[in-house]
Amino acid sequence: NATVIVTIDGVAASGKSSVASGVARALHVPYVSSGLLYRAAARAALNAGLPLTDEAALTAHLRAHPLRLDARADGNRAYQGDTDLTPHLHTDEVDDAVSAVAALPGVRAWIDDHLRSLPAPFVAEGRDMGTNVFPHATAKFYLTASPRVRAQRRVNERDADIDAIETALRERDRRDARQSQPAPDAHLIDTGPLTLQGVIDLILQRVQAAH
Ligand code: C5P
Repeated sequence: NATVIVTIDGVAASGKSSVASGVARALHVPYVSSGLLYRAAARAALNAGLPLTDEAALTAHLRAHPLRLDARADGNRAYQGDTDLTPHLHTDEVDDAVSAVAALPGVRAWIDDHLRSLPAPFVAEGRDMGTNVFPHATAKFYLTASPRVRAQRRVNERDADIDAIETALRERDRRDARQSQPAPDAHLIDTGPLTLQGVIDLILQRVQAAH
């Protein structure tokens, strides 16, 4: 069990973090939110006033001021040095900036290294956990849902206009398309017709079957 890694990838607002957190709790392991690290990288670039496409400046900045993910079971936190960036990572500003920063290979390489340094077992959640970062994971999942269903879930979390959210989600899907593909050996799950607990139970059954 010491090296068990379950990967849960999927599109924006497909319920990845809630699902990953539920699965991790049931397995008594931490979950790792890679998206939170990408958000922290975007926040760090914004805070430092760096252009979001300046790969050399950004990778130099990350080396000088490393990010750190605290993969706690009750919710991940992202730090830069002693500064807890977590309260400033789910904002419209970061939503708009994050895909550009995540498109930079140097930033991805830095974050991949950090993720691989975390002690297994854990559940890793993101876009490319099953493809690039943990290709030998014990079990892999890829969550989808229609843009309308995802927009409705976001509206339930933060009060906002559903059409505007759906448009923003479609735009983020388009920008993330390259780094967000299911692994050939991932189980695809359309979460649209399922409850959160329904998705968690389905994954737990398949993880047990993979042992
Ligand atoms: O999962 P979340 O929506 O918080 O991720 C924020 C952004 O981080 C995504 O829109 C994507 O641009 C980037 N990301 C990524 N690869 C991952 C996780 C997130 O490129 N593994």
